[in-house]
Amino acid sequence: MIYLKTAEEILLMQEAATLVSRTLGEVAKWVAPGVTTARLDTIAREFIQDNGGRPACLGYGGFPATLCIEVNDTVVHGFPSDYALRDGDILGIDTVVELNGYHGDSAYTFAIGNVEAKTLQLLHDTKHSLSLGIAEAKEGARLGNISNAVQSFCERRGYGVVREMCGHGIGRSMHESPEVPNYGRRGIGPILKAGMCICIEPMINLGSKNVVISNDGWTCKTKDHKPSAHYEHTIAILPGETRVLTTFDYIQEALGDRFI
Ligand code: MF3
Ligand code: CO
Repeated sequence: MIYLKTAEEILLMQEAATLVSRTLGEVAKWVAPGVTTARLDTIAREFIQDNGGRPACLGYGGFPATLCIEVNDTVVHGFPSDYALRDGDILGIDTVVELNGYHGDSAYTFAIGNVEAKTLQLLHDTKHSLSLGIAEAKEGARLGNISNAVQSFCERRGYGVVREMCGHGIGRSMHESPEVPNYGRRGIGPILKAGMCICIEPMINLGSKNVVISNDGWTCKTKDHKPSAHYEHTIAILPGETRVLTTFDYIQEALGDRFI
């Protein structure tokens, strides 16, 4: 069942989405070599709580933290730890905020210091594929158009498109119908309707598409241990208009000329 949101609900979604965007912007100020991912997690949790939100990942299905931490070959759902970031790492951060009963979800992959050129290109291309997906998300279009836009661009570049994890609807729950895969055919899937709120989140590997879930039951890594990138926005389909509710502007502000 796909819940269509009213205009009033979309405004509440916007508030939750803005808080999650500001949270990633706050964390971005601290992302640097030598910083532990556990420290970033604390910064995010305190920022969300200080702003009246709830860190929605914390305790979700037993997930132990505010941030999902994705270093190098981790695709999604890694735990914060005492690992200190190193020059040359990439760091994906994915988090969800609940505010006034609605959820905002966003992810961004950061380059730590000097990252290898082909990995940096993976970050650029994954972020671009998110924009291509969003451009297909229009009232009256099929959801498969979004999936196909992400997949065809990324596969043309020779990347592996992760199959096991998808984007999703979002609202009063973090995960609602429909699933939003990063692969698929144009013209298939549900018709996008005004009031739908969805998360588009390409998870794209430099090597093969295959992934492995670790013994902790959460941490998802590439099978070949090559790097993986992840960017995510929460968007709302409105009558004749698509609104991107989350933004990377706060991250850009924090990083200045280090923003990619
Ligand atoms: N954006 C992630 C997702 O949709 C957030 C997961 S939070 C977790 O899967 F609690 F499930 F880790
Ligand atoms: Co998500």
